[in-house]
Amino acid sequence: MGNEQHLWQRISKAFCFQIQSSHIFQVFFLVIGLTFGFLTCLYLKSLFPLLQVPTYSTISPISSTVLVPPALHTPPLPPPPPPSPPPPPPPIESLPSSLVESANGTSNYTSVLLKKQELLTHNMSDQELFQKALMVPQTELPGRQVPKVAFMFLTKGPLPLASLWEKFFKGHEGFYSIYVHANPSFNDSEPQDSIFCGRRIPSQPVYWGTSSMIDAERRLLANALLDVSNQRFVLLSESCIPLFNFKIIYNYLMDSHLSFLGSFDDPRKAGRGRYSPQMWPIINITDWRKGAQWFEVHRHLAMHIVSDTKYYPIFQKHCLMPCYVDEHYIPTLVNLLYSEFNSNRSITWVDWSRGGPHPAKFGWSAITDEFLNQIRFGSTCPYNGNTTKICFLFARKFLPSALEPLLRVAPLLLGLEP
Ligand SMILES: *[C@@H]1O[C@H](CO)[C@@H](O)[C@H](O)[C@H]1NC(C)=O
Ligand SMILES: *[C@@H]1O[C@H](CO)[C@@H](O)[C@H](O)[C@H]1NC(C)=O
Ligand SMILES: *[C@@H]1O[C@H](CO)[C@@H](O)[C@H](O)[C@H]1NC(C)=O
Ligand SMILES: *[C@@H]1O[C@H](CO)[C@@H](O)[C@H](O)[C@H]1NC(C)=O
Ligand SMILES: *[C@@H]1O[C@H](CO)[C@@H](O)[C@H](O)[C@H]1NC(C)=O
Ligand SMILES: *[C@@H]1O[C@H](CO)[C@@H](O)[C@H](O)[C@H]1NC(C)=O
Ligand SMILES: *[C@@H]1O[C@H](CO)[C@@H](O)[C@H](O)[C@H]1NC(C)=O
Repeated sequence: MGNEQHLWQRISKAFCFQIQSSHIFQVFFLVIGLTFGFLTCLYLKSLFPLLQVPTYSTISPISSTVLVPPALHTPPLPPPPPPSPPPPPPPIESLPSSLVESANGTSNYTSVLLKKQELLTHNMSDQELFQKALMVPQTELPGRQVPKVAFMFLTKGPLPLASLWEKFFKGHEGFYSIYVHANPSFNDSEPQDSIFCGRRIPSQPVYWGTSSMIDAERRLLANALLDVSNQRFVLLSESCIPLFNFKIIYNYLMDSHLSFLGSFDDPRKAGRGRYSPQMWPIINITDWRKGAQWFEVHRHLAMHIVSDTKYYPIFQKHCLMPCYVDEHYIPTLVNLLYSEFNSNRSITWVDWSRGGPHPAKFGWSAITDEFLNQIRFGSTCPYNGNTTKICFLFARKFLPSALEPLLRVAPLLLGLEP
């Protein structure tokens, strides 16, 4: 017996060594192959610099899915080509004068283009931050930078659905940026390998229904505006989930010139009833609008929100409980300044059907394919001059207990193969 065991140990040791040595050869050839591929790639790139520009334009536009829910079993789209590092900003003298001009003639384009690492660790006051954000050019993207979607998470603390979002973002680096505004007293940090790691912005406490909520939203927008490649800005909470895969959402936003923000005239007490005559003459009751807090806005509108010094102080002074400033300020501002560029609808689904001051919450038992597909394709709305069944790209409010079943249905939700 003892001998037999000894023999087996020797045999398996020998076998293991063989595996290791064949590994060494595999690794050797892999390194050679990679080096060759890398050099070839570099050479080709220098010949055809245009090849570097990653784009999602090859994906069929959303309108092709009009009225027909996309088959869920279609194979996933090929992964996007890796985005190239952003080219260095062009020399100042070749910039259009609009880019060189500054708020006060004291700064210029290059000094405003902060380095990526500096973006989130700055120590600016809100006032400095907003000024800096407004100096970033709002014209076309310089060079061949890829337009990005800024995903802005307004949270209390932890992100219980983070692993679903990890799946959502995976493989799309370079097409998005993430910003997190958490309560300053929250001091847990995300794991090093998380996409949320290091994405927190300097924050202030937020109190429900007060203008501190708008301050946080403006802080998120201003931080995101500092990155000139952010072109669309989505506000999300820790209870939000994506309803489609990244490419569908990216194209849906980039292919539209409208912002997606609810803004409607509600004659009832919860609408016009919250208007205060003291807001007149700057804000007339006919200007007053209501809409959900969770918005998606275009860069131009983001600039309007961050730069507004005319209407916001009126709201801060006169829109007090039970006037929910987060439900009225941006919808009214957009109506006043930018209405022709707003779709007047939100792309974040929520269920108010149960009444009361809070919408329905969804936990473990709510998550079924039928429920999710109903949200995904259960309505119709206008999109780019057509009608579509894809009206919502995000949904809330999902409880931490929904994570496990959501990860299970992620292949359906995010259009991945099971
Ligand atoms: C612009 O500069 C002037 C004087 O140079 C100064 O008084 C003013 O406060 C500055 N404005 C801003 C917004 O920095
Ligand atoms: C722009 O600002 C940078 C840094 O502040 C400075 O070095 C550069 O000379 C300025 N350029 C112009 C054209 O003002
Ligand atoms: C940020 O500013 C505060 C006060 O304005 C100061 O106490 C702190 O040292 C600054 N931190 C950094 C990293 O500059
Ligand atoms: C985090 O905050 C808690 C209380 O809010 C405190 O007890 C703890 O020491 C803090 N941890 C760190 C690392 O700051
Ligand atoms: C508010 O606007 C309406 C329509 O533009 C106008 O008829 C009305 O006079 C205005 N109200 C006030 C108080 O200015
Ligand atoms: C949104 O509503 C505004 C009025 O508040 C209107 O001017 C605009 O045309 C509407 N947008 C669309 C896309 O219907
Ligand atoms: C609307 O959809 C139809 C059918 O899918 C398509 O042929 C048409 O080009 C679309 N119109 C616009 C304005 O996108």
